[in-house]
Amino acid sequence: MRRYVAAIDQGTTSSRCIVFDRQGRIVGTAQREHRQIFPKPGWVEHDPVEVWRNTEWVLGAALGTSGCSAGDLAAIGITNQRETTVVWDRTTGEPVYNAIVWQDTRTDQLCAELGGEQGPSRYADRTGLPLSTYFAGPKLRWILDNVDGARDRAQAGDLCFGTMDTWVLWNLTGEHRTDVTNASRTMLMDLRTLQWDSRICAEFDVPMSMLPEIRSSSEVYAEITAGPFAGAPVAGILGDQQAATFGQACLSPGEAKNTYGTGNFMLLNTGTTPVFSKHGLLTTACYQIGDTPAVYALEGSIAVTGSLVQWLRDNLGIISSAAEVEPLARSVADNGGAYFVPAFSGLFAPRWRPDARGVIAGLTRFVTKAHLARAALESTAFQTREVVDAMRADATAQHLDLELTTLKVDGGMTGNDLLMQFQADILDVPVVRPVVRETTALGAAYAAGLAVGYWSSLDDLRANWAADHTWTPDMLEDERTQRYSEWNKAVERTYNWS
Ligand SMILES: Nc1ncnc2c1ncn2[C@@H]1O[C@H](COP(=O)(O)OP(=O)(O)OP(=O)(O)O)[C@@H](O)[C@H]1O
Ligand SMILES: [Mg+2]
Repeated sequence: MRRYVAAIDQGTTSSRCIVFDRQGRIVGTAQREHRQIFPKPGWVEHDPVEVWRNTEWVLGAALGTSGCSAGDLAAIGITNQRETTVVWDRTTGEPVYNAIVWQDTRTDQLCAELGGEQGPSRYADRTGLPLSTYFAGPKLRWILDNVDGARDRAQAGDLCFGTMDTWVLWNLTGEHRTDVTNASRTMLMDLRTLQWDSRICAEFDVPMSMLPEIRSSSEVYAEITAGPFAGAPVAGILGDQQAATFGQACLSPGEAKNTYGTGNFMLLNTGTTPVFSKHGLLTTACYQIGDTPAVYALEGSIAVTGSLVQWLRDNLGIISSAAEVEPLARSVADNGGAYFVPAFSGLFAPRWRPDARGVIAGLTRFVTKAHLARAALESTAFQTREVVDAMRADATAQHLDLELTTLKVDGGMTGNDLLMQFQADILDVPVVRPVVRETTALGAAYAAGLAVGYWSSLDDLRANWAADHTWTPDMLEDERTQRYSEWNKAVERTYNWS
């Protein structure tokens, strides 16, 4: 009997495999971290071969912990860190260069050139995205321009491009495919037709023969050919943030979730018509089930949140694990006047300032490492407030039916009670975390299970969602306003640096 569905979550810091049952409960899980490679300031890479080996390893390990075999799996879903770009040889499978990670800013100058006289919004009406170092297209172009022989080999049809979903699927099945959500993060796809845009590809100087075939997010793509999962069908692909939206059952227009991981990503389901932001949000494909119309989302992407906690651990050494940040921050009553703006990759939504770099403002002799820990946590909540304000502004301007009455949250940082309370306080909105926190993997499992009839409809997914913990706002309006305006002052100090 095919009792379970598995999801592969190829993330920024680790690769996971989680096996779920029909109620969305976890029956087995395995995880392995990979190296973060920082060759120069602003550059971030992964070794795609290491990532693939880890992925293969976690498949076997997850089966081990769940006590099931590949024959018990109805389907496999893939979810992934988005935008991270790999180029490999079609025959040998060898990558021509490391994977260039979404946080990498090396294409800063290139993006300015691609914008030309029209600037960063040149492709916004077709792709829903501003020209930014964040997206895959410029990273792909960088590889073609800078890796010896790459352009010639690409023109000869010998190279494949993929985001991490495509790299994993290709290694599992030999098929060169992606889904609409991942394709929508390349800047090379027309958001309305859901096809590669030949004009943009020409202007980016990217040969279209390198690009994977774009499919829906929920259909059988291919069977796994070898390894622990051999014989099981891959039937779902969603970028990690779209997967979390799906896993949180934000399946109707007006429903939103916010994920607190390496970065923070809020997605608001806007239904089957793309809504274009006037306030610094992205428009993105949210999911497409088989041949039904695609559903779109407005997205607020924040580059640095959980990774700032890692930075406190790895670069400053003031904590030895991420969890230690909470007791350290709690040892003081407030931030002591310090504000930490982690513009390590410039600022993403809603400001989109590639010229910004990180700042700690408001330092005095009074400030201790505990205040800095607190300021670091608060920066996540303040950045989220900026995104929520942008969503509200777009909703008002475009008469969308969005009243944010509660915020559904997930991700590693939602284990931090101090942060979640501060988030509710700064938003003045209750924050609610579901029982299953692994919403990213769950969403990919849902997409795969729907495709093979393991779950019969979206209502099955809605029925699986249950609240675990709610944080209720408890801050006076004056205090909220004052702190947020001090935060804004600090953010302005980051501009015009790079
Ligand atoms: N108790 C905590 N307090 C604050 N931050 C935490 C805590 N526990 C974990 N984190 C942060 O959460 C992040 C990990 O969360 P999660 O596993 O959801 O990340 P992720 O973005 O999914 O990772 P990946 O990109 O690899 O998928 C790390 O950046 C870590 O610093
Ligand atoms: Mg993740």
